[in-house]
Amino acid sequence: MSKLTDLPQWKALNGHFKTIENQDMRDWFMADANRFKTLSLQACGILLDYSKNRITSETLELLFTLARAVNLEGWRERMFKGEKINNTEGRAVLHVALRNRSNTPVFVDGADVMPAVNDVLARMGTFADAVRNGAWTGATGKRITDVVNIGIGGSDLGPNMVTEALSAYASKEMRYHFVSNVDGAHIAHVLSQTSWDTTLFIICSKTFTTQETMLNAQTARAWFIDQGGRDKDVARHFVAATTNVAAAEKFGIPKENLFEFWDWVGGRFSLWSAVGVSIAVAIGKDGFSRLLSGAHAMDRHFQDAPLEQNMPVILAMLRIWYTNFFGAQSWAVIPFSQNLRWFPDYTQQGTMESNGKSTDRDGQAVDYATSPVTWGKAGTDCQHSFFQLLHQGTKFIPADFLAAAQPDVLVEGHHDILLANFIAQTEALMVGKTEAQVRQELQAQGMKPETLEALLPHKVFPGNRPTNSLVYTRLDPETLGALIALYEHMTFVQGVMWNVNSFDQWGVELGKQLAQRILPELTGTKPADSHDSSTNNLINFMRKMRH
Ligand code: F6P
Repeated sequence: MSKLTDLPQWKALNGHFKTIENQDMRDWFMADANRFKTLSLQACGILLDYSKNRITSETLELLFTLARAVNLEGWRERMFKGEKINNTEGRAVLHVALRNRSNTPVFVDGADVMPAVNDVLARMGTFADAVRNGAWTGATGKRITDVVNIGIGGSDLGPNMVTEALSAYASKEMRYHFVSNVDGAHIAHVLSQTSWDTTLFIICSKTFTTQETMLNAQTARAWFIDQGGRDKDVARHFVAATTNVAAAEKFGIPKENLFEFWDWVGGRFSLWSAVGVSIAVAIGKDGFSRLLSGAHAMDRHFQDAPLEQNMPVILAMLRIWYTNFFGAQSWAVIPFSQNLRWFPDYTQQGTMESNGKSTDRDGQAVDYATSPVTWGKAGTDCQHSFFQLLHQGTKFIPADFLAAAQPDVLVEGHHDILLANFIAQTEALMVGKTEAQVRQELQAQGMKPETLEALLPHKVFPGNRPTNSLVYTRLDPETLGALIALYEHMTFVQGVMWNVNSFDQWGVELGKQLAQRILPELTGTKPADSHDSSTNNLINFMRKMRH
């Protein structure tokens, strides 16, 4: 492929940007009563309103032309067909097969993966329902009251986010805990709330070698034995989800307690696989099926809808537009939903581990920006933390706002206020408040002219700040499945546009390697002297201070 920035379609967008950059959305809304109608669409129970963006029909046309020039449709087909598009690891990318509810064959190396997918899914479902209905008990015959998922990254963020998001659908008979951090405070806190004979540990690790997860799993096992469990009781209290069956067995988890998945499932795309076993325990086999169905519906939409009406593609185009032409450095993801409070963290790994790259697929350094920093927090809390900067700061930060029309939990009077704030914030970011409006307001309050003039500039809102609104009826399993798949596909589309491999993560390796080297230096008898002076001194300072 020619260099992205040399493509005529890229240059056309550059030229178009110069005509747009100083234009104002407010004028476009005034001039076109149909702007919402033109720039919104519905799919899989989700309404996407993208009319509050600094785009015209021409912007979109140019972006779609660029998408076609980089063969987005071809890449999409290659992913769904099971081609090894993860080129640096030589792997297919088939999280879509895990939720392939149509059950059409999907081939990797000539073999249909669907029988194995269906088999593990059925075993997960049977296990989950047995824990839920009390048929699966602890070693002393007591019901399971606490489920502890031990994993990190994709083996934690997805299950944690979904279990919390769907807490309205989860069994109230159990509590769900997620231990990820190697900081002992994390596991100690969880263990202090549980009892060995009623706790089920789920060890989730694609590789079954991740340092944090292995240590947390060993600590959990040692605690279990220390509290009264016997070696033979481990089988009633420890299960695992992994691609590395041999390592899990070596850890002591019997084969019948292992839920397998495969190298073509990326860690950050793995909640649909055996990694979702904690989700299945929480919301049941049927609930998990509904989650998969919602994601499958979004897969079909992504596969079949023309680019112009394709929700993941549109969201990706907007990210390209602002990242590469407006120079946006970050993107806020703001669910107006307490139960979705982990969604920003989850999408952070999805987008930044996937597209935080500066080398393209062909090994060339890129000369354009790739993934923006993804961050956010649940509303309305964030209105009282970082919204000041969104409204009046010097940074240009586009944002996704998410909300359900109906509450997860009905508490009289709350949801209307939540929604009013959601809508008000997107309106405020767009319309802002002019000097003339502020002056009029202050005059109406009878403020003295001198005070008024001093205060006036502080009360002006520039506006013209872009947002997407994603609205759905309820945060039910189908809708959540569709929402997650939407973000997954959006991320893939951006990777295609930037010509990066969205499915490897070499950037996490160096720190892991150095930590292996530093550990014995920190705990050994000799002071460190083989690093730069900062690193040596940090190690040696900590050696002194740590006792
Ligand atoms: O942070 C790197 C990473 O490999 C992630 O991609 C992955 O989700 C996480 O570590 C955990 O890996 P594993 O599931 O193999 O323990």
